[in-house]
Amino acid sequence: DVVGICVSGGLDSKTVALRLRLAGVKVKCFCADIGQPDEEDINDIPKKMAPCGVETIIVDLKDEIAEGAFEAVAAGASYDGGYWQSTGIGRYVTARGLLQEMKKHGCTVLSHGATGRGNDQVRFERYVNVIDPNFKVYAPWRDPVLLQEFPGRTEMLSYLQNHGIGHTIVSQAKKRYSTDANILGLSNEAEDLESMQTPMTIVNPVMGVWPKDAPDKQEEIEMSFEQGRCVKINGKAVTAFEALTQANQIAGRNGIGLSQALENRILGTKSRGVYEAPGMVLLAEALKTVYQAVLDRRSTSLFKFLSTHVSDQVYDGRYFDPSTRCAINAVWELAEPAKGTVKLGLYKGHMNFLSLTDCPHSIYFEEDSSMEASSGLNPASSQGFLEVSSVEAKSMAKAGLIDYGS
Ligand code: ARG
Ligand code: SIN
Repeated sequence: DVVGICVSGGLDSKTVALRLRLAGVKVKCFCADIGQPDEEDINDIPKKMAPCGVETIIVDLKDEIAEGAFEAVAAGASYDGGYWQSTGIGRYVTARGLLQEMKKHGCTVLSHGATGRGNDQVRFERYVNVIDPNFKVYAPWRDPVLLQEFPGRTEMLSYLQNHGIGHTIVSQAKKRYSTDANILGLSNEAEDLESMQTPMTIVNPVMGVWPKDAPDKQEEIEMSFEQGRCVKINGKAVTAFEALTQANQIAGRNGIGLSQALENRILGTKSRGVYEAPGMVLLAEALKTVYQAVLDRRSTSLFKFLSTHVSDQVYDGRYFDPSTRCAINAVWELAEPAKGTVKLGLYKGHMNFLSLTDCPHSIYFEEDSSMEASSGLNPASSQGFLEVSSVEAKSMAKAGLIDYGS
């Protein structure tokens, strides 16, 4: 067996790679490029891993992750009130992309660095299982032997040191929480963040700033959508990846997209997280305006149901399940008429609606909705509608079905 190890170039990655190799296991390392907004260059990771005696292959999955982000925005699929699932989406893109690459290199086992306590282990396991039932999964942080050898950072550092491998803890020294990041955003949790007495503001935003540090002046941004996809920003055509990059920059510098959640994990425990997803929050807010214009009430209610389904499935590591595909296809169908240009004013964490134009399938017609005399809805005709409605209302009253509280 050749083990394909998913690595990030961090302390855990180096420890696991070296430990397996020295145990006589044949290993190859793999790292997904999913637009991590890291201080360090992803292309330096093979160099960082090299002292452990391993080869590392970088797999470019930037378009795949951007597509995942667009799908989530189109589906309005945020989890437990506001987490845009940078990690949940990152996992299916990474598992699928790396598994395919690992196979090309003769691997039969995928090793991942998730803990035995959280969601990611469930996601990795399930994705490998459903993509290739013959492929195996190894989770070092569920292996009693490794858990005993490396109870913490100190032991990993001295293990590497004993083998002449240095490791500089870059940002970990200042920061006491765990971060997972890609072009969609950052998920921060664990350590100091576990206490509900720790304010979310201990987190240092990477993609932008806290609202208090944002400019004192409103910044306008115009986003054009077609079939639920952002195709232009400020009048210039953009690919999905470019749209996310620009939306992240513009929203980030205006303090948009920081949130905190006490979310429900797959295993049933709660997780306290602080999230950063400026671009996702901005694009979703803009698209919501278009949806509000083009979706009738029953489509809106179906959409909400699909949203929840897609979001729960992505969270649970069930992105490739049949019901997820079906819900996503339905979302794209509802998104067909979602064409429009939305202008928002960004101001210290707020997104003010400024205008909606070029929205040919909007079912909002001022003359019909107006409270002024107009050629649209005729108030005299409402008499008939209300008389018919009264029949049901009165029958319910007569049958004693109404409880008005006294
Ligand atoms: N709770 C989030 C999720 O399950 C994030 C998990 C990974 N985050 C991290 N900081 N390691 O999707
Ligand atoms: C981990 O367990 O490795 C990260 C947190 C999670 O997946 O919930």
